[in-house]
Amino acid sequence: MNKVLKSLAQQCREILGDRPGPDGREKIAELLQVLLSDPANVDALVPESTGERDMLYRDPELGFCILAHKYKGERTSPPHDHGPSWAIYAQARGETIMHDYDKIKDASADKPGKVKVSRTYSLKPGIVHVYNEGDLHSPTRVGPTSLVRVEGTDMSQIERLRYELA
Ligand SMILES: [Fe+2]
Repeated sequence: MNKVLKSLAQQCREILGDRPGPDGREKIAELLQVLLSDPANVDALVPESTGERDMLYRDPELGFCILAHKYKGERTSPPHDHGPSWAIYAQARGETIMHDYDKIKDASADKPGKVKVSRTYSLKPGIVHVYNEGDLHSPTRVGPTSLVRVEGTDMSQIERLRYELA
């Protein structure tokens, strides 16, 4: 683990240990914003060798994860939340167009829920956004992008509900 990652993990631990709710996540967002304003930190957290989803750190006690993502081309994800968890998106390089959604109809295990767009905005390098439990969103990338994300739990282990536009 490099110094930048080690320090980020340690600070996340301290913040979430004291304030596991939305205000602690905003604190981490502020921290990431400062961190990513230095290109050397961007290179340390999302080096050229980064894949589409690299788990950088998983906290053994609190369960939060720090991930690095590097996408090469165009891509739009479907509307989603992070199930029982939350996620912080920190744009490192390139641009992500983010859509937020209002839920029109709940999803169930076998039937997608319905949503409608409530807001569209751009995440540019250094912009960090917190998505709390149940916040529905979907990123669109039109070119190469890199981001750092902090998630409340390892979402690869959790089955997600599907949502589609109403
Ligand atoms: Fe997400």
